[in-house]
Amino acid sequence: MSSKGAIGVFDSGVGGLTVLKEIVSLLPNEKTLYLGDTARVPYGSKPQKTIIEYSLEDATYLTRQNVTALVVACNTICCLAMTDLEKAFELPIIGVIGPASRAAVNLTKNRRVGIIATEGTINSGVYQQAIKQLDSKIEIFPKACPLFVPIVEENVLEGVIAEKIVAMYLTELKEKQLDILVLGCTHYPLLMGPITRFMGSKVTVLDPATAVAQELKQKLTEYKLRSDSKTEGSHKFFFTGQPQKAEKLIRRLNIRIDSIEQANLAAPPVCGCS
Ligand code: DGL
Repeated sequence: MSSKGAIGVFDSGVGGLTVLKEIVSLLPNEKTLYLGDTARVPYGSKPQKTIIEYSLEDATYLTRQNVTALVVACNTICCLAMTDLEKAFELPIIGVIGPASRAAVNLTKNRRVGIIATEGTINSGVYQQAIKQLDSKIEIFPKACPLFVPIVEENVLEGVIAEKIVAMYLTELKEKQLDILVLGCTHYPLLMGPITRFMGSKVTVLDPATAVAQELKQKLTEYKLRSDSKTEGSHKFFFTGQPQKAEKLIRRLNIRIDSIEQANLAAPPVCGCS
């Protein structure tokens, strides 16, 4: 493994860009390759077998382009396909569940923690288990919010429709005296405005992206994979469907774009990290 390679980050769609943003801000000299499988999003309501198949294809696409580490910027994939990814690839793979759970456990004072995520993530019980393992006294309130991903993919991040959908899913959680609400899907931080306004000031809405970026930094340091470059890293983007739609969001997040391409998962570019 060469420290000259890029960090591969992937998600079912644009959600993982919220994680990429934190990675770029914490590790500005690292090169990154981002893959969003926007042609097949959402993953969160698909069977596990399909999620495993898709995520192996996504990771293969990136690993054919000289990446040093993979960041699975998708909670659904982490819950349902992490074991298969770890078996299939030899490089360090960083997921989101561990960092998110540790951050939630560290932050909660009243031990009442809500988790909102896709149906796949909630039904897997992986989050509930991870948090309970860290502190068995924490009471967990899980809730699947399946419409959040499609509205984010459509760039509906504010306004009446976003507010109504947020209220529809979160009303029952609002009555549970939570002090932490974990955004257990990387798409959801893009709805931070409507979610925080709805939950009110007593609830800390936790975007785990910072904790994920810190874990990545620690892993890269441990494996001696940090870039030795003194200049800003390049950021290349690949989307299986409609890259121009994702481009708007990347610009909104203020991440520099070195290139953005339509991805054909069957035929990765020879090397996307030069
Ligand atoms: N962003 C993904 C997650 O963190 C999944 C969204 C989806 O495709 O359903 O779970």
